[in-house]
Amino acid sequence: MNPASGSANPIESTLHQARELLRNTSNIAVFTGAGVSAESGIPTFRDDGGLWARFPPEQFANWLGLEQMMLSNPLLVASFLVELLRPIVAAQPNAAHHSIAKLEQQKSVPGVITQNIDGLHQKAGSTHVLEIHGSLMQTVYVGRSQGNERDLTVDELSETIQELEIFIQSRQPNFPRFLNAARTLFGVDSFGRYRPNLVLFGDMLPALVWEQAVEAVRTCDCLLVVGTSHLVYPAATLTDSARARGAKIINVGLDSCPCDVWLRGRAGELLPRLMAGM
Ligand code: OAD
Repeated sequence: MNPASGSANPIESTLHQARELLRNTSNIAVFTGAGVSAESGIPTFRDDGGLWARFPPEQFANWLGLEQMMLSNPLLVASFLVELLRPIVAAQPNAAHHSIAKLEQQKSVPGVITQNIDGLHQKAGSTHVLEIHGSLMQTVYVGRSQGNERDLTVDELSETIQELEIFIQSRQPNFPRFLNAARTLFGVDSFGRYRPNLVLFGDMLPALVWEQAVEAVRTCDCLLVVGTSHLVYPAATLTDSARARGAKIINVGLDSCPCDVWLRGRAGELLPRLMAGM
């Protein structure tokens, strides 16, 4: 039986449908979330054992909460930063990131829009990455306009992890010692106060990047959505607005969303299979 006919193997049939959609569309935007990096060893936010289960976002995912906690419980903030940084610093792109980079070479992709802060799409070779929630690989000066980012090296971040671990084990885990251990990420220099270039809850999205993401979705005929729960706004509106404009939606991941084709499963397994037939 021809697997593409569907009855023998439902996932083959769905892959076939998705491939046909990709073949028949010229402009394909990509929208990714934490699930695309899960197989690189980076925990997602909301799955079992995710970051937010251990570090509640009300305290850790907004600057006011985080900065207050640095004063009241620097030990906990140091643990949070180590848990956030360690998997990202160690991670390499997985087959899903590579498949998206391959898609970019084969089709017109107006943007690989990502909610992730890990830089793995770029490492895999994607060239038009739109990081709508910022990047952990950069710091930014507070209150200054876009364009004042400073890139951080993997070595700098690895050293920061080490210093934070020493701080966690120290006998006097106080705020000044925390600041010293975390000085690559947080501090003040002659240009002002800097912190990681992350968009947390309550922050505006980087205007230019968001405009480009909205434009990519506005002009695409197909949106390939990978590994997102669609629970965070305004990011989640991208899928809604692509749909509203008549673009086809292919969803790859463990959670459903309104879409034309749902490739249900792990992105690192399904995306290479999807691209193999392209
Ligand atoms: P979530 O943790 O909310 O969702 C991850 C999604 O990936 C879920 O739908 C999982 O089922 C799916 N998933 C897990 N493993 C997968 C795999 N191997 N292959 C495919 N899918 C998989 O993460 P996001 O949707 O990215 O924002 O969350 C969006 C935002 O919430 C983040 O950018 C962050 C967070 O709060 C801020 O901090 C502002």
